[in-house]
Amino acid sequence: MPSTSTSERTPAPSAQPATFRFRCIGCASVTEAAAQDFRCSQCGNLLEITDPSWNAKNPSALKSLWRERRTLDAALDLSGVWRFRELLPAPQSERNIVTLREGNTPLYELPQASRSTGVEALYAKHQGMNPTGSFKDAGMTVAATFARQAGYRWVACASTGNTSASMAAYAARGGMRSLVLVPEGKISWSKLSQALDYGALTCQLRTDFDGCLRLLQELVRHAPVYQLNSINPFRLEGQKTLALELLEQLEWNPPDHIIVPGGNLGNSSAIGKALLEMLEIGLISRLPKLSVIQAQGANALVRTLREAGGKQLISVQPETRATAIRIGNPASWQKAVKVLQATGGCCEGVSELEIAQAKAEIGAEGIGCEPASAVTLAGLRKLLHQGFVKKQESVVLVLTGNLLKDPDFTMAFHRGDLFKETKDSGEAALLDPLRHPPVVLDATLDTVIQTLEQAEKSNPTQTHA
Ligand code: F0G
Repeated sequence: MPSTSTSERTPAPSAQPATFRFRCIGCASVTEAAAQDFRCSQCGNLLEITDPSWNAKNPSALKSLWRERRTLDAALDLSGVWRFRELLPAPQSERNIVTLREGNTPLYELPQASRSTGVEALYAKHQGMNPTGSFKDAGMTVAATFARQAGYRWVACASTGNTSASMAAYAARGGMRSLVLVPEGKISWSKLSQALDYGALTCQLRTDFDGCLRLLQELVRHAPVYQLNSINPFRLEGQKTLALELLEQLEWNPPDHIIVPGGNLGNSSAIGKALLEMLEIGLISRLPKLSVIQAQGANALVRTLREAGGKQLISVQPETRATAIRIGNPASWQKAVKVLQATGGCCEGVSELEIAQAKAEIGAEGIGCEPASAVTLAGLRKLLHQGFVKKQESVVLVLTGNLLKDPDFTMAFHRGDLFKETKDSGEAALLDPLRHPPVVLDATLDTVIQTLEQAEKSNPTQTHA
């Protein structure tokens, strides 16, 4: 096993010295190496990665280089993350890179949601189309690469499900073992089953996500395991490429708004960092407003901004069926506050009914997503109502996870069970037109034809463009 501090490791003799540095987001002190808990040794705050070489790049040369790589078929060019390697921390050798050809995710139009919201230029950047079905893969390819480079045998994370699925896959590809800490009974079976199949040592702890993360932070101080939560700044570097790829897809014309779900707040921080760096380098000439949407039952950032002006974290006891974002004590809250304020974005909470409705609507577009991703469309409705987003503005919703990540939620919704015996059971009837429960029939031609005719009569306009 490697020694317990990343700073004790010396690079291979032939390697180029790294040009990137770790900078504390609190006291701004800069170091060449980070301790295993990825916290500043002076003030205990989180670290971010900076590299002066990023600023020395010519923006139009970068744009054509990245576009050209889309026609090449080397593994690194096929990755929608490493394709942008000029703005990522460089590993000592490309041989260390662990990739599953992540990124290169589609940007979809949402014609039905466009009509219902009145926002003509409405898009979904679907990160659920990554190899393990969530946006985590974009960050994991970078962080797993640096774990492998540092010689770690074990990597570990606390997770609401997607991080663990992604980490387990990249660890397996990179020849490392993985330790998963998840809250017992509070993550979807689909995500848990991924971690099992990819060979993780999976521990279901009798606590919530925040409890799992606390324990992991202690663990890394006592055992030589490399932590792959988004506290690890290499993760956020990889997740920056979501924004690079999005802007490339929009021919470098920034949208007016980017709306992203918020849980532990790593992803919003990464997207914001990318936007600010792109502006500084000259890849874009103005900033989109980056807004974060949370479930009302897990709305720590909403409250932190509203009640404490973003100055101190207001933790909450989280409760939501969107289990991916069932987080009450988000680790990257300060990074998120910074980028929201820098881009002029805002933060809102949405109800369980609003999440279920938005998820069914995104499903009806033929793309689908998991519940946590659907907060974006629900949030857009709220921001339109408040006048923060205008109908004539362009909006990109970041869909973070695939529909297949949480089949229990989807089945319960369509069967009409999702809100049974909850305070929302009465109002949930309003969502009935969006439900498509399965019907059990005798296996005869007549019954199927009758059912078909009934369906046509009861909803003749459904799905017509
Ligand atoms: N959407 C999905 C599908 C997620 O899995 C997560 C976080 C988020 C949104 C929120 O992103 O934490 O960067 O603000 N999932 C983590 C996990 C916590 O363990 O899989 P965030």
